Amino acid sequence: MYLSREEESIYQGERGETLRRVMEILVALGDIYDAERLIPVRSVQVAGVSYKNIGDAGLEWISDLRGNVVVPSILNPAGMDLYRWQEMGIDETFASKQRAVVEAYSRLGVTIDCTCTPYELYANLADPGDHLAWSESSAVSFANSVIGARTNREGGPSALAAALIGKTPAFGYHLDENRVPTHRVAVDCELKGSDYGALGFVVGRMVGDGVPLFYLKSHPSKDDLKALGAAMAASGSVALYYVDGVAPTPPAYDVKRKEAEKIDLGRDDIEQVYKDYPLEDAEMIAMGCPHCSGQELQRIAMLLSGKKVSRELWVCTARKTARAFPDLVEEIERSGAKVICDTCMVVSPATDGRTKVAVSSGKALAYLPGLCRVKVGFGTEEKCIDVATRD
Ligand code: F3S
Repeated sequence: MYLSREEESIYQGERGETLRRVMEILVALGDIYDAERLIPVRSVQVAGVSYKNIGDAGLEWISDLRGNVVVPSILNPAGMDLYRWQEMGIDETFASKQRAVVEAYSRLGVTIDCTCTPYELYANLADPGDHLAWSESSAVSFANSVIGARTNREGGPSALAAALIGKTPAFGYHLDENRVPTHRVAVDCELKGSDYGALGFVVGRMVGDGVPLFYLKSHPSKDDLKALGAAMAASGSVALYYVDGVAPTPPAYDVKRKEAEKIDLGRDDIEQVYKDYPLEDAEMIAMGCPHCSGQELQRIAMLLSGKKVSRELWVCTARKTARAFPDLVEEIERSGAKVICDTCMVVSPATDGRTKVAVSSGKALAYLPGLCRVKVGFGTEEKCIDVATRD
């Protein structure tokens, strides 16, 4: 990979040990994927935050770094609500390690909004065409597919390296040739709410790391697109998709479009997901994967209005989103549900050891059994709230 004179001097250690180490990561990545050069990034979203996932080795690695990020950089969810961790059943040992992780990132200048929906909080992170280095798979999907920016799915170290250098190697989804649709997916039924997560769950399994182009009968909202992309990123590893007439369009020279494999789906395929993962016997209900937007909080508050929960119900969101809608948070919590910030049902150890968790998210459906070793039920938002408030 070509390095400018300045990049070469960083690589040789002339700007200190931290920058040398992280430049080494970027150069190694660039060499593996045949990148020609480094390109500047507008913003970074850093994964590798939950102590459950990174452990002592990760904490040590981050703590050894010195310096400051040079572009806006924001954290992925941590392993606990940074204020209400005791209510989640998190023990003091985990909590102190988790605080140390967050403090280590903070010392490097990373903004401590632990969320997978950074685009909900800040308008200055990404515009169409911007190059980014984001990590969390649903955020990557949203950035590529809804915003029209360009990012690979970065690992924690490569994202932090990009934040400290302000650049990333130009390969993968940064290049037009990798943004061409590989599958054309026609869906011949109307979709709403959690149907988008079910559709993503099905299509991710079919296309793997492909780039699907959807032809839909219904017009998805931004929250629907968020749910669709998140589910495909988890059941497969889809980092970019298109919806005909809705999201950003494929690159102009998409000569391969004609060769894209055709997939036809209908109502039966969506219903099968609900049937395969019934909600009965769920011990707890977890909503907000990806983190709830204000509109989603509003809908959950409306569904819970005048009801009391009989099982634990978590509604996960970013702390800034919760603070922006205090009335909705109050209304949700009046039912006995908890609005959990900074974390989620997948990256927190608080879910491990439950028997069964009910979700309305295709991403949580794909991840919970493997990552938290729990059974999972999948249903619409209404049905999840029904289970949570049933006597
Ligand atoms: Fe976000 Fe956690 Fe889901 S990080 S996308 S709420 S698994």
